[in-house]
Amino acid sequence: MELVIQPDAERAAWLVASLIAKALREKPHLVLGLATGRTMERVYNHLVRMHRDDKLDFSLCRTFNLDEYIGLPPDNPGSYRYYMDHHLFNHINIDHRNTFLPDGMATDLKAACRHYEEMILEFGGVDLQLLGIGSDGHIGFNEPLSALRSRTRDKALTPSTIAVNGTLFNKPGEMPTRAITMGVGTILDAHAIILLVSGSTKADILAKAVEGPITSMVSASALQLHPQCRVVVDEHAAVKLQAQEYYRWIFATEPEWAGFRSDKQ
Ligand code: F6R
Repeated sequence: MELVIQPDAERAAWLVASLIAKALREKPHLVLGLATGRTMERVYNHLVRMHRDDKLDFSLCRTFNLDEYIGLPPDNPGSYRYYMDHHLFNHINIDHRNTFLPDGMATDLKAACRHYEEMILEFGGVDLQLLGIGSDGHIGFNEPLSALRSRTRDKALTPSTIAVNGTLFNKPGEMPTRAITMGVGTILDAHAIILLVSGSTKADILAKAVEGPITSMVSASALQLHPQCRVVVDEHAAVKLQAQEYYRWIFATEPEWAGFRSDKQ
C-alpha cells in the first residue's frame, strides 16, 4: 500500500483523476471499477474537464460500479445509475452500453449478483478500482463484519449508513435499506486499487483502515492485503496517521510520483 497526502480535497481528487487518465491512455480498453458518493463528485468533475479540454478518450472504456440500491429504478435521482449518468457518463464519450451497475430491480437478486461477477470475469477483471470509504469503514456497501472473501451479494445497510446517505434523498424513509454490492473479495480481485479519502470526519476511520489491524469490523482494512493499492488523502483526513512523515517523503522522492508533484490542475 502507498499513501499520498495532498494539500486539500480538490488536489487529492485531481491526483486520482490524473491516475485514472494515465491508466486510460496506456490502455484504452480499460475496465474501470467506479464508486459513487460525495467524495467522487470532484474526481468525476476533473475527468469530465479532462475529456473536454485534453481530449481524454473514453470510447473503448468499460465500467463496473461497486453497488446499487435495491428497489430504485434507474430514473430515480437517488439511484447510483442516475448519479453516474448525471456526474460522468452523460458528459464523456463513453458507450453507455459499456457501463454496468448491479441490477437492484432484479426479481432474482441472487442470480443478478452471480451474473455481475460473471460479467466482470468475461471482461477480464477490473483493471483499476476506484474506492471511497464510509465512516464505519465500508468499501462499496461492505458494512462491518462483511467477510473479507465476500462476493457480490445483497446486503442490509447499517443505521449509520442509512442516516448519512439518507440526507441525499428528498423524503425521510425514501432511501432503500438494502443494496447489492461487490464483495470485499471481488474488490480485492481488481488488478489495482485507488482509495480516495478527504475531510476530517474520515480521519479516525482512515487511520484504522490503513494503520490498524486487518479486521472484518473495518472492511477497508482488507486493502492492506492488496499488492497494488494507492491511498490518496487530503490533509484533513490525514491528521490521525502515525507515519505521515514517511508518506510525505515517499511522495517527494519516489520517481513514480514525479509527474504528479507540481503539475497544474
Ligand atoms: C458508493 C460507495 C461507498 C462510498 C462511501 C463514502 O458507491 O462505494 O463506499 O464510497 O460511502 O461516501 P462519501 O464519499 O459520500 O462519504
